[in-house]
Amino acid sequence: MMPTGVTPALIATGDSIYHANACARCHGAKGVGGQNGPPLAKAAPAAWLHSTGKYEEIIATITQGVPRAALKDTTRRFAMNPRGSNPPINDDAVKAVAAYIWKLNNP
Ligand code: HEC
Repeated sequence: MMPTGVTPALIATGDSIYHANACARCHGAKGVGGQNGPPLAKAAPAAWLHSTGKYEEIIATITQGVPRAALKDTTRRFAMNPRGSNPPINDDAVKAVAAYIWKLNNP
């Protein structure tokens, strides 16, 4: 079941935002992971680093970003800026991109 507020249209919007912004540069196309960011399409629920993968939690992580002191992998070259991008994406864009990431993990 989709989380409240998530629709196929929102997921599609989030897909575009994810790939048009810096997210994909660090986390890879379709969230497969990259040199500067962990995968967002998780092999297992336990693979989440900063939450348990619930929609609301994904929104919170993207909004807050991951400061250097909170990095799980301290060898990462960059921390994650709040709202993941420079310029930061707005609240509606965060919700859409979180819906896309949620869907990658709940196909
Ligand atoms: C400069 C590289 C970079 C960019 C750009 C970036 N991230 Fe991140 N992201 C990271 C790093 C680094 C982490 C934390 C890895 C760690 O803790 O070891 C992270 C963590 C996350 C997490 C938490 C993953 C987990 O397992 O809990 C999510 C969700 C996320 N990013 C989504 C996004 C989205 C959406 C965007 C674009 C709006 C974005 N990121 C942009 C580098 C980036």
